[in-house]
Amino acid sequence: MPNPFVIGSGPPGTNYTVMKRAFDEGWGAVIAKTVSLDAAKVINVTPRYARLRAGANGSAKGQIIGWENIELISDRPLETMLKEFKQLKEEYPDRILIASIMEEYDKAAWEELIDRVEQTGIDAIEINFSCPHGMPERKMGAAVGQDCVLLEEVCGWINAKATVPVWAKMTPNITDITQPARVALTSGCEGISAINTIMSVMGINLDTLRPEPCVEGYSTPGGYSSKAVHPIALAKVMNIAKMIKSEFGDKDFSLSAIGGVEEGGDAAEFILLGADTVQVCTGVMMHGYGLVKKLCADLKDFMKAHNFSSIEDFRGTSLQYFTTHTELVQRQQEAIQQRKATRKGLKSDKDWTGDGFVKESESMVSN
Ligand SMILES: Cc1cc2nc3c(=O)[nH]c(=O)nc-3n(C[C@H](O)[C@H](O)[C@H](O)COP(=O)(O)O)c2cc1C
Repeated sequence: MPNPFVIGSGPPGTNYTVMKRAFDEGWGAVIAKTVSLDAAKVINVTPRYARLRAGANGSAKGQIIGWENIELISDRPLETMLKEFKQLKEEYPDRILIASIMEEYDKAAWEELIDRVEQTGIDAIEINFSCPHGMPERKMGAAVGQDCVLLEEVCGWINAKATVPVWAKMTPNITDITQPARVALTSGCEGISAINTIMSVMGINLDTLRPEPCVEGYSTPGGYSSKAVHPIALAKVMNIAKMIKSEFGDKDFSLSAIGGVEEGGDAAEFILLGADTVQVCTGVMMHGYGLVKKLCADLKDFMKAHNFSSIEDFRGTSLQYFTTHTELVQRQQEAIQQRKATRKGLKSDKDWTGDGFVKESESMVSN
C-alpha cells in the first residue's frame, strides 16, 4: 500500500464510481460496503443518519462530533457489486480492494459468498461481525461478533474456504473486545479490524418528543461513529494490540484501526498503539475523498518531527506506557520519594550553616 489509509466499509465504498474516486485520490486501500448473497432482503429507510454537534460551551462550538446511522449493509444486487469489484481490479491491479461480507448462520451460504467474491480478484476479505442494528435481527453481524461460540464456528467455516487473507471486524458493543478478537485469530483469521459503530440513540426532539433519526415518527437504536468515538476506539485497539502482543508474540497478524479519524494525528495515535492500517468512513462522508491528502501530509509532518522514516519505526511505541492503576500509584509514590530526595536548596532559613554556607547558597541558584 502507498500509505496506511483505508476507506472503511460504508457509503464511501458503495459503488464503482466512488471506489474509483478513492483510488484516484490516493487512498491506500478500499473496503467496499458489506455485501450478502440476497440484497433483496436488505431494505433501507430514509432519513437514516443523525448528527451530534458540540455544545455551545465547548471549544469546538457547533462542530459535528458524532454521527448515528441506521443504515443496513449494501442493498445493491450482489451480481452488480461483484461486476464492479472485477472492473476495479482490472483497472487498478496494483491497488488493494477488500470485500466486506456478511451472511446468515449457514455454512453453505458463507462458502458460496466467499467463492463468489474471490472470483472477482479482490485482495482480501473483511468479515462484518459487528453491524449493531438491523442485521442482528437476522442473526447476522454483531449477533455473531458478540457470541464467541458462534464466532468460532463461523470463523472456522470462513477460514477453511477462503484463500485470501481474512480480517474479522469487531463490535465495540461487548464487555471485553479481546475475547472475540482472540477467537477470530485462533480460528484462522489473518487480521482484526476494530471498531465498528457503537450502539446509540442520537437524541429526542424536545418539541415532538420523537427520537432521532426519525422515520415516520419512530426510530430504532443505531451505530455511533465520528470524532466522539475516537477515544473509545483507541482503548479497544490498545486492548487488542496488547492481547496480540502478549498472547501471539511475533505472529504476523494485521490490526486495522477504525473510529473517528479526521486528522493525521488521529491515525498516528492508532499506529502508536499498534495498528498497521487506519480506516476512515464518516470522515470521508464529512470531508470528501481528498481528505487522504491531508491525512498523509499530517502523518508525514508527525514522522518528520520525530525522525521516523517508516510506520514500523513507531508502530506500537506507546503501548508500553499503559499499565494498571495499582502500578500508577506505586510509580507515583516512588517518583515523589525521589523528587524529595533530590530537592534542591534548604527547606528553611534555620538550616543555614556556617561551614556549608557557600554550597548552600549555590544550591539555590538557577543558572
Ligand atoms: C453510514 C454508515 C454505514 C456503515 N456501513 C457499514 C457496513 O456496511 N459495513 C461495515 O463493516 N461497517 C459499516 N460502517 C461502520 C464503519 O465502517 C466504521 O467502522 C465506523 O463508522 C467507525 O469509523 P468512522 O468513525 O471513521 O466512521 C458504517 C458506518 C456508517 C457511518
